[in-house]
Parts: sequence; C-alpha cells; structure tokens
Amino acid sequence: MANQATKTATLSIEGEADAIELPVYQGAEGPDVIDVGNLTSKGYFTYDPGFVSTAACDSEITYIDGDNGVLLHRGYPIEQLAEQSDYLELCYLLLNGELPDRTQRDGFVDIIKNHTMVHEQLRHFFNGFRRDAHPMAIMCGVTGALSAFYHDSLDIDDASHRKVTAHRLIAKMPTLAAMSYKYSQGLPFIYPRNDLSYAENFLHMMFATPCEDYVVSPTIARAMDRIFLLHADHEQNASTSTVRLAGSTGANPFACIAAGIAALWGPSHGGANEAVLNMLDQIGSVDNIDKYIKKAKDKDDPFRIMGFGHRVYKNYDPRAKVMQETCREVLAELGVEDNPTLQMAQRLEQIALEDEYFVEKRLYPNVDFYSGIILKAIGIPVEMFTVIFATGRTPGWIAHWNEMISGPYKIGRPRQLYKGAGARDYVPVDNR
Ligand code: CMC
Repeated sequence: MANQATKTATLSIEGEADAIELPVYQGAEGPDVIDVGNLTSKGYFTYDPGFVSTAACDSEITYIDGDNGVLLHRGYPIEQLAEQSDYLELCYLLLNGELPDRTQRDGFVDIIKNHTMVHEQLRHFFNGFRRDAHPMAIMCGVTGALSAFYHDSLDIDDASHRKVTAHRLIAKMPTLAAMSYKYSQGLPFIYPRNDLSYAENFLHMMFATPCEDYVVSPTIARAMDRIFLLHADHEQNASTSTVRLAGSTGANPFACIAAGIAALWGPSHGGANEAVLNMLDQIGSVDNIDKYIKKAKDKDDPFRIMGFGHRVYKNYDPRAKVMQETCREVLAELGVEDNPTLQMAQRLEQIALEDEYFVEKRLYPNVDFYSGIILKAIGIPVEMFTVIFATGRTPGWIAHWNEMISGPYKIGRPRQLYKGAGARDYVPVDNR
C-alpha cells in the first residue's frame, strides 16, 4: 500500500528562494518518517552515514523500541515468544505474518524436517577448504553454493519458488553449520535425524559420531532453541539490510543470504558473541577487570567491552534478559556455575552496569554477552558462535527478502558526499 502523508515538513535552505515541502508518514509504531525521496530532483541528497536516522524501507515484520527495551515480532513481544513458543513456530510467524493453527504448525514442522539433508555433491565443497578455515568462511561459501543446486526454485517472481527456498534455507542451515564444525575437527559428517526437534537435531549433528549417539538433555535443547529464537530477526540491522540490498538487484535468495552471512561475521554485529569469549580470555582473571574497564573508557584506546552497547537499544536488550535466565538454567544443569570464565563474565557485567561511563552512555549487555557464555558451557567451540547466530537469523533474512520481493521495490543505490579530486587530465606514466 502506498504511504499517505499525515503532515508535511518544510525544508528551507539558505540561498534558495523556495522552501521544499516533504511528506511525513506515520508508522504503526515508532517515530514519524520524513520522505526525502524527491530531494534529488531539487539538487540535494541527504547525508546519514551509518543510516543512523534513515529508514530504508517499509516493513511489517519486527518492531524495536530501543528506549524502552521492546522487541515485537509481528506484534508479539519477544519475552512471550521465548516463554510460550518455539523457534519453528516463530519462523512460521515471521514468514507468514500470523501464528499457525495446530494443523499449519504441524505441517510446517514436517516440511522443515523433510528438507534437512543437503545434496551429496555439496559434501565435496567442504574438501576445498583448509581444515582450519573459520566456519563462517565455509558458511559464506556453501550457502551461496546452494544456488547451484536448486535451479528448480530460483524464479524470484514466483511465490511458490520463494516459499520452497525459505523452507530449504531454514531446514539446511543447521546441517551446513554442523558440517562446517565436523569438517574443522576432521570428523565425519552426521546426517540429520527427522525424529528430533530442530534444536535437538542440530545438537545431534554437532556432537554425535558414527560410533556414538549424543543424548540431548531437554534443558540444553530448550536453551539451543531459545538461542535460535532470540536471534531470529531484528529488523533492519546490518546483515538484514545487506540481504535486502543484494536482493534488490534481483539476485537469487541463496546468494543474498550468503551476503547476509558475510555482513553478520563482523565483531560489531554477529561476531560479537565470539568476541565476548575472546575478550574474556584476554582479560584472563577477575583481578584484571578494572584495568580493562579503564581501557574501555579511554577514548584513545580502541578496546571495547564486547557484548555491551547497541545501536538501537538504549535500555536493557530484552533478548539479553531472556538469555540471562537461560544462562542460569544451563549453568545449573551442567554444574559449571563456578567456571572461572563465567564468573569473570558475571563480575564484568556487574561492574559495567554500575560504572558511571556505561550508565551515562546507556550501554547495557546485549544478546551476545550471554549467548556466548551459554554456548561455551554447552561445549560449542567459540568459532561456531556466529554460525549459530547466522542459523537463527535465517528466517528473519528470508522474511525481509520475501517482503521486499513481494511488493514494489527499487534497486538499493545510496548516494554520496564526494570529497575526491575534481576532473583532471590523465598524465602519461613517463610524465608523472
Ligand atoms: N564498550 C565501551 N564503550 C562503548 C561500547 C562498548 N562496548 N559501545 C559503545 N561505546 C561508547 C562509544 O565509545 C561511544 O562513546 P563516545 O560517545 O564517547 O564516542 C558511545 O558509547 C556510542 O557508541 P557508538 O559506537 O557511537 O554506538 P553505535 O550505535 O555506533 O555502536 C555497537 C553500537 C553495538 C557497534 C557498539 O556499542 C559496540 O561496538 N559494542 C560492542 C560490540 C557488540 O557487542 N556488538 C553486538 C551488538 S548486538 C548484536 C547484533 O544485533 O548484531
């Protein structure tokens, strides 16, 4: 539906005779949005590096109120979803807009379970990687490679193709994720088991071997499901915006998701959960925490407390609260509450939450602070943390890609404030 202006903003520019009228739209929630799309015809661009104040699209999927620590998926608060729903139901909700009834829910779970295997030929791709390759490097490659296997569903203008691609991606990501781990360990790949739940199956593919089954504890399976669920979507973050930007060119969805995985990898985004554990290793002991808090506050020192702060949340990240609870459950179940790394994390959190610098800048623990601790306790190696984030985020990426492709959209093409050389004549090499 086309946006209707509820009011007008007037922009007057020094030296210009006429003011420029800009339509203002009202969202269902959140700040009003000024449409600057026609400024280019008046000879101006807007300037907003990092998209701090810029809405790049319309969306009906997820809403965040960062000041009040609210996260809604299709209107449902994340706390209720984490408590009462599960990951696959949330996938359905993100993709379809409404919660499924029982038949729809069972049907969806069945479909996902029936797409968990990957083409046998794909196994050979793994052999092209060094054994010490970072699993995120492998994931970028093998996810993109899926486009070479599913030619039957690459017509992005066909809704049924988009649907089967969504199912394939959600179903196969845990398989690929576990394969990237097994490959790094020199261990045989473990086939999925469709009698297990999504989270149980992932743990099975990670930890079973052909010689031994892995018995999945219900607490650990529930924690794994929650980790996927809490990462499922987060509106227009860097990786989702990357998926949308890649998708806006008409690229196939597997390639777009591979682009999203690449964007997620960085330590300012999904790589933060890995960075939290690396940081804790670097700090080394509770006695050094004060020194590192000082470093984090020093403007001339690039060190930051990883897992703290967020572009949107200026309050407690609601996902972090749920994750903190899950963290306690898992540590109690595993009897590792006195693990030194975990104790260090808890102490760091306590100090940072009371420190004036963090309080004043409204820097709270984010979802990655606790997810890393839980994953470490479960026995998942640090390099796999961001892969797990990517697996959980897949339905969000697809829902956004699908939302964009289903409606009218334009190729994403930002403009720039050019600061380079003016036009000049080429100088032949001997005259330079
Ligand atoms: N430790 C110390 N100082 C910090 C931190 C931190 N973790 N985060 C922000 N600050 C300071 C920063 O130095 C700046 O200070 P000043 O105003 O004096 O220059 C102020 O707080 C605002 O920071 P910013 O970098 O301008 O804020 P941003 O919105 O651009 O960045 C962020 C958000 C998440 C990249 C940043 O907080 C950060 O680097 N955090 C650590 C990495 C991390 O945990 N990332 C995961 C984000 S949540 C998962 C996800 O959604 O991907």
